[in-house]
Amino acid sequence: MITSFAVEGKTELEIPDPSSYTFQGKYAPFKAPVFYNPQMEFSRDVAVAALSVFAKAKGRPINACDPLAGTGARGIRYAKEVQSVEKVVMGDLNAESIPIIINNARRNGIEGRVEVVHEDANLLLAEHSEPGERFDFIDIDPFGTPVPFLDSSIRALKNGGLLAVTATDTAPLCGVHSKSCIRKYLSIPLRNEFCHETGLRILVGSVVREAAKYDFGASPVLSYSVDHYFRSYFRLSLGARRADSAVGNLGYLLSCSSCLWRSVAAFGEALPTSCEICGSPLRRAGPLWTGALSDPDFLRAIYGFDFSYMRTSKRMSKLFEKLLGEVGMPVGFYVLDVVSKRLGMGAPSLERALEGLKSAGYSAFPTHFHPKGIKTNAPPGAVEEVIKRL
Ligand SMILES: C[S@@+](CC[C@H](N)C(=O)[O-])C[C@H]1O[C@@H](n2cnc3c(N)ncnc32)[C@H](O)[C@@H]1O
Ligand SMILES: [Zn+2]
Repeated sequence: MITSFAVEGKTELEIPDPSSYTFQGKYAPFKAPVFYNPQMEFSRDVAVAALSVFAKAKGRPINACDPLAGTGARGIRYAKEVQSVEKVVMGDLNAESIPIIINNARRNGIEGRVEVVHEDANLLLAEHSEPGERFDFIDIDPFGTPVPFLDSSIRALKNGGLLAVTATDTAPLCGVHSKSCIRKYLSIPLRNEFCHETGLRILVGSVVREAAKYDFGASPVLSYSVDHYFRSYFRLSLGARRADSAVGNLGYLLSCSSCLWRSVAAFGEALPTSCEICGSPLRRAGPLWTGALSDPDFLRAIYGFDFSYMRTSKRMSKLFEKLLGEVGMPVGFYVLDVVSKRLGMGAPSLERALEGLKSAGYSAFPTHFHPKGIKTNAPPGAVEEVIKRL
């Protein structure tokens, strides 16, 4: 393999040479013998910050597992940049990954704190399912859906541990390929203007269900949708009551495509079939997670962490500001273009619409899900009234 080097955070990484693995003149990660996507530096930066906050709160040395490691970009960064990470186990099924991960560990002077295995991720995790062998943190960063690795991850995580999952199968989760979403997540997606939130909630719901099987309550502490992927972090706590309480946040999202009314219904409740405002038939998505997608204390701690040394620090600040604004807001959001089109007028600026809603007495925040999206407690009629007046 032809390699070159990249620097992320405080870590130098040997990577496949971008100019040697191209498609239509551009670096194509899927052409490289070992997978490395420079666009995911943002996801890795957020992960380093999130793990730093989690590790600090633990107040003791922690261990981590990166079982789909590629070049080891994540695991190496955790060992190098997160204080108190004492050991990282990394693995990949691709034999060509292994020497690269070992080189990267040496290059960063952390070879004594890593273990590298050429193994299927589920096998590696299963080998760590015994008490005493389990991890404080597991990062599932696969191609496509994380679903095939959830069961073994939950069994290999300590009580009180942190599980992070990436899903790049946004087309199924957003309802473009709904059959695939039903196969993988046993959940009906909804293809509309807020499908990224619905998709993220389907992903979160599937992790909660997998954890509940083992009497673990999985609580999402940080969830977001950016670029081509969803990412969610969960704190897992053992206890049937905790698992019941997490499962109590599963339900359905109901959406009226006629008047934009939307709501949620708990799992097991009778589901309304027509809109309570205009009587039109309702569309439904789920089962999915209807609770909070992030823990405000965790968000604030990450926002307060000094990530200024990271290349994506500005983008991180912007994301966390938006996530903090979304805390406590209802499920779903309004997209200005969609509301304005229904009214047969041009869309106002996001700032004016936010101001308008606030002066009408509602809470209103931009959402990280969409550049023209607004999270508000205003009902659809009130949103239309405010926009009409602008
Ligand atoms: C999206 S890439 C990981 C990227 C890496 N985490 C990073 O941030 O650069 C997914 C990796 O999983 C590996 N992989 C796929 N299926 C696997 C399996 N069943 N067990 C272990 N590794 C697997 C692939 O070889 C690939 O390196
Ligand atoms: Zn309606």
